[in-house]
Amino acid sequence: MTINMALIGAGGMGKRHANGYLELKKYFSDLNIVAVCDIHESVAKTVADYIYEKEGKKPRVLTDIDKVLSLKNLDAIDIATSTPMHHEIAINAMENGLHVITEKPIAITIKAANKMKDVAIKTNKVLSVAENYRRDPINRLTKALIDSKKIGEIYFTLDLNLSSSNKSVMHSTVWRSKKFQAGGNVLDAGVHNADMLLYLLGTVETIFAQVSIFEKERILRNMNEVAPVLSKMYSHRKENSQEGDIILQDAIDSAFGVLKFDSGTIGQISFSDASHGYNLGVSTINGSEGSLYRSPSRSGKSPRIIFSNGREIAGDKLFDLIPEFKLDDDTSMIWDGAKKMSSYNLDFHLVDAKILAFQYIDFYRSIIKNKKPEVGYDEGIKALGLAYGLIESGIKGNVIKLEDVISEKEDIYQKEINEKYLI
Ligand SMILES: NC(=O)c1ccc[n+]([C@@H]2O[C@H](COP(=O)([O-])OP(=O)(O)OC[C@H]3O[C@@H](n4cnc5c(N)ncnc54)[C@H](O)[C@@H]3O)[C@@H](O)[C@H]2O)c1
Repeated sequence: MTINMALIGAGGMGKRHANGYLELKKYFSDLNIVAVCDIHESVAKTVADYIYEKEGKKPRVLTDIDKVLSLKNLDAIDIATSTPMHHEIAINAMENGLHVITEKPIAITIKAANKMKDVAIKTNKVLSVAENYRRDPINRLTKALIDSKKIGEIYFTLDLNLSSSNKSVMHSTVWRSKKFQAGGNVLDAGVHNADMLLYLLGTVETIFAQVSIFEKERILRNMNEVAPVLSKMYSHRKENSQEGDIILQDAIDSAFGVLKFDSGTIGQISFSDASHGYNLGVSTINGSEGSLYRSPSRSGKSPRIIFSNGREIAGDKLFDLIPEFKLDDDTSMIWDGAKKMSSYNLDFHLVDAKILAFQYIDFYRSIIKNKKPEVGYDEGIKALGLAYGLIESGIKGNVIKLEDVISEKEDIYQKEINEKYLI
């Protein structure tokens, strides 16, 4: 059965979605992008032309979501707009009979995400979140290693993400500096880390954090300088901003948190892009028998385990610890038949595209089989709740419970955002 989908939002991530779609088409033909919509017509056209060049079929170019919703034979939409409008577009689409896959974070606030969940349940539509990190085959291996208990009972985890932006606006995207647009790296990048920790270690009970905006004045630099690898996907994008090159950052740019998982595991998690001259990325999972060093998602590097006796295992030797491990059939198909992988050495854009292609297949199968996607509303809400939990705890100055963030009891920071958008 064929599913016809419209891509909404054709900026940086929208073009990467087009790339993922084109990768998917090498292996799987039953999902079609039939329209590309962006409020900037030239942006939508660039991405539609990109698809046409490679696929030979030109999706329609639209600038208005209502026109998308009135298209005949449309089954689904794929939302890659900036975050504030995810919920409105998703709810409108589901109420008009369409299935939805949306970029992370699922929504601008937890309240908005909970509304999306209610509508997905009421309309019986698939609501999938395009959370990509966990779908990296190396992260599948990491999860299998932890689940195997080869490093024993998990005591604690470190997830430290300190980078030097040199006061640049993140991804040269003004909305990423703004509180009212789900800006700041705790939400925009942190939600990936939150999902990974929840995926690997289960639910979090409590959160405590200190947060700050260290750099309130940011510089809008060219994407080639800020994120050279990604820049080719972002050169066509447009953004309506009146601020010039000096941008006021009012979104939290740094969070230093401590988590307690339901299992008793303790986690230390930090995000900041205000670390001048010094970058640090550390992700470890430390158990009673050994420590696992996670590799950065999409880097293709192998995880490493060091046991209590100092023995270090990495690469294909890790399979000896878990001989039964194998990738699921769809991942295997998209990674050219690989049954298991401990590392890869591929261009970033190809890796990105393969992971996005997997997300599309998972979405497709959920629609066809009427089943929950791997990352659905519950997983999307938990990850957003954990990222917002750091901010809510930091603003309140107390330990808070993740379940209270998810049930909207802890919402000091988000309240104003909900009021502004009438959520
Ligand atoms: N999964 C990942 O690794 C990853 C990476 C980057 C971005 N993202 C997410 O993807 C989303 C988009 O980020 P981006 O970097 O592409 O931002 P962007 O600003 O480059 O692109 C957003 C696009 O949405 C369009 N848009 C805004 N409102 C619209 C509307 N009502 N209808 C149609 N189009 C509309 C804008 O014109 C713009 O072209 C964000 O939610 C972001 O968090 C995810």
